[in-house]
Amino acid sequence: MLARRRLPRLVFDFVDGAAGREIAAAKNISAFDEIELQPRVMQDVSSRNLRTTFLGSEYDCPVGIAPMGMCDLIWHGADRMLARASNRFNAPLCLSSAASCLIEDMLSWTEGRAWFQLYVGQSMDHTLDMVERAKTAGYETLVLTVDVPQVSRRVRDLRNGFEMPFRIGPRQFLDFAAHPKWSLTTLVNGAPSAKNFPTDRGNSGFDRGASRAGADWAFLNRLRDLWPGRLVIKGVTSVADAKRIQSCGADAIYVSNHGGRQLDSAPAAIKLLPAIRTALGPDYPLIFDSGIRSGEDVVKALAFGADFVMLGRPLLFAIGAEGERGLNSLFSIFTEEISLTLAQLGLTRPGEISRDVLINPPASLTEKSTQLHITKSIKRA
Ligand code: FNR
Repeated sequence: MLARRRLPRLVFDFVDGAAGREIAAAKNISAFDEIELQPRVMQDVSSRNLRTTFLGSEYDCPVGIAPMGMCDLIWHGADRMLARASNRFNAPLCLSSAASCLIEDMLSWTEGRAWFQLYVGQSMDHTLDMVERAKTAGYETLVLTVDVPQVSRRVRDLRNGFEMPFRIGPRQFLDFAAHPKWSLTTLVNGAPSAKNFPTDRGNSGFDRGASRAGADWAFLNRLRDLWPGRLVIKGVTSVADAKRIQSCGADAIYVSNHGGRQLDSAPAAIKLLPAIRTALGPDYPLIFDSGIRSGEDVVKALAFGADFVMLGRPLLFAIGAEGERGLNSLFSIFTEEISLTLAQLGLTRPGEISRDVLINPPASLTEKSTQLHITKSIKRA
């Protein structure tokens, strides 16, 4: 893989790595390979349209950019590249709390398309300050991530001595020296930092290891009162949690196992999606990520009950491999793959995707919920 060659090992592993033995991360991907779609023939699919309305906005395609901290670590200017891709492909971009650019800048770069992702970090005052900044800047959608009570043991990061700010010992020095293009660019532009944290601890106030367990039920209720816009809860995989979050007044749930970066024994996130769709009903907005690697995967996630899908690691690898050109190609390839997959299934719009396209629909995706889901999808499209 080109990104593996171009990036220092420490940086590549920060993106590619996951919790423990990385079994959950591998399962996220292999679970998609097990899902089979039923081709259909002799339909007029010559005119296809991927436009999707989600959470009150219209997007070119049911795909957005997942929140990822420290993107500028992959390449200087990666945040700007993602913002331009968000505009060019009319896709929402979810800005991480640990972003390497300012909350205010991203909303203006994306012409209002950005959502803001919140971690309840080391200081409640700082957390609430970020919420206030997002509100003042004009963000309409806030995504609270709840699946990182503690950052897990990510063995590759530990092995590589990955720390923010960088600790450069002999091992890291050799790694950087073997990747001079990345190292010189980073040296000239300065090492990225988590820009929305106060800089009172060395280069960055962001404490990557600090507990984020403040994102509890009481905080959710408090945030619901504080945040007038749309509130999305990210990192949910349990039906019981999903139902309780729905009853707390969240506007959408983001089903994700953090790309396998948190609990290595977690099942593939896609396997848990159908039961959540059935439990929450056909109309409740559901976002999905974790293991999406192709346009066909996007179609599979929609068939399993998602309304919208977010891309994670593939975007950063595309930037690591070929910068902005790589990122734009990746978006174009995903869009084309989704469209071509629809054609193979005899469909012309994402709203027509239902469990009927699956060879073996999961039992938890009930007939009733899908019938309603289809009716809703057709109305929406
Ligand atoms: C993440 N993810 C993440 N999630 C979040 O809510 N806030 C964050 O700051 C980050 N940071 C982050 C950094 C990096 C380098 C990665 C790879 C991931 C998780 C991310 O939003 C998403 O859930 C996963 O990336 C989805 O898995 P795949 O599809 O990338 O394997």
